[in-house]
Order: sequence, then structure tokens, then C-alpha cells
Amino acid sequence: MVQQLLEIKGLSKWYEQDKNRYNVLKSLDFNVEKGSFVVITGKSGSGKTTLLNILGFLDKFNEGSYIFNGKDVTKMNEVEKCSFRNSHIGFIFQQFYLIESLTIAQNVELPLLYHGGYSKSQRVEMVKQSLKDVELEEKLNNYPHELSGGQQQRVSIARALVTKAELILADEPTGALDWKTGLKIVDLLVKLNNQNKTIVMVTHDNDLKRYATHCVYLKDGVFSEEDNI
Ligand SMILES: Nc1ncnc2c1ncn2[C@@H]1O[C@H](COP(=O)(O)OP(=O)(O)OP(=O)(O)O)[C@@H](O)[C@H]1O
Ligand SMILES: [Mg+2]
Repeated sequence: MVQQLLEIKGLSKWYEQDKNRYNVLKSLDFNVEKGSFVVITGKSGSGKTTLLNILGFLDKFNEGSYIFNGKDVTKMNEVEKCSFRNSHIGFIFQQFYLIESLTIAQNVELPLLYHGGYSKSQRVEMVKQSLKDVELEEKLNNYPHELSGGQQQRVSIARALVTKAELILADEPTGALDWKTGLKIVDLLVKLNNQNKTIVMVTHDNDLKRYATHCVYLKDGVFSEEDNI
């Protein structure tokens, strides 16, 4: 039986400006199956980042329902959302957002510190394992500026994985990289997907749709869903 990780119904998001309502997402119905690799495409301004931020509880929506693994997101308060996000969701962005003054290991350790409850030795072990997963364990003590763009993106993936998040949200993860380096990042996401992580990736690159189990095209705040294979 197909198990849904995310179930979204009638989700709308709008902004009010000078008493006018600007609709970004219009009554979306959207499910994400456990273990799937969903690719979201759409023109600039179509609402892809807005949707991803809503999926990751970084942004609020105005109408509709959102169930995450059986849990009603609209019934969680901010503290619950924050702790749920810390343990279940990992983010990857176009600009890697690594902290320049921290080493690679310290950057990857950050979500564990926010999460709390891990001893120093547990954290060291988890950081090592995550960096091993992205084949960067030898860069533990380097600083972000000492790494290439592709390596920095792999560190940001290690950071997203370190809390054992089951959902990875990636907003244009290849956008700042050349084509070949970008493909390596997508290969890594595919590998994680094969290890049962659910992935939702936004991209401008139609070629990357071939890696998806499901594709969604967002246009004027609504989308059509199609099986890609
Ligand atoms: N805080 C805000 N206030 C008003 N409008 C906003 C705000 N944030 C986003 N928008 C609008 O919502 C729409 C969708 O933005 P969003 O960033 O989700 O697009 P996108 O599909 O990710 O675009 P891109 O491909 O360029 O990243 C845009 O028209 C944008 O101007
Ligand atoms: Mg965007």
C-alpha cells in the first residue's frame, strides 16, 4: 500500500498589498509518497520556493490542510513545529548557507545543537558519519572557503542529513553549480532516495526531471501532476 508522507488539500497562500489580494498558491492538492523523489518545476515567480517553505514549516499558508506523516500541521504551535522540523526535515538551498567562521564539522553539527539531547561524543560520531555519506570526511577541519562549490553543497547535504531527517527539501540545489558538478549533487540525492529518504526538489532544469519518481509543474499558483516514468 502506498503510504503518504505529506498530504495537502486545498492549500492557498496569498499576500495582501494595498487591500489587494495577491494569490501565490491557489487551492493546491498535493501528496508526497514516502520514499518518492518529487521534482517541482515552473517559471520564476510561480510559487515554487513559497511551496517548499510551506512544506518545511518556514512559511505559513492561509487556507487548506497539511498532514505530515499523519500529524495535522495546522494544529501544531510554533514550538512544536520547530522541534518537528528539526527532527524530520532537512533543507538544501541554492546558496549553501554555510557559516564561514565555523569549520565543516561545526557547520554540520549545528542542527544537532539546535535539536538538543545529544552528547558531545554522539555529535562527533554523527557528524563524521554524515560527512562520510557525502564523501567529505577528510574536510572535517577545513573552512567553507577552502572547499569548491560542489563540495560546499555536499556539506550542506551532510548538514541536512545529520539529524536523520526523513524528508529532504531542496530549492535549486544545482542552481549555483556548473552542469557536471550539479549532476553529482543530484546523483547523491538519488542515492539518498534509494536509502529511503523522501526528496522534494525544486529546479529550473528540465533535464533533472528524469531522476524523479513524480514531477509537478507549477503555473499561476496551480499545478498538474504527472508520473515521469
Ligand atoms: N513576502 C512577500 N510579499 C509579497 N509577495 C511575495 C513575498 N514572497 C514572495 N512573493 C511573491 O510570490 C510569488 C512566488 O514567489 P516564489 O519565490 O515562491 O517564486 P519561485 O517560483 O520560487 O521563483 P524563482 O524560480 O525565481 O525562485 C512571486 O510573485 C513573489 O513576488
Ligand atoms: Mg524560488
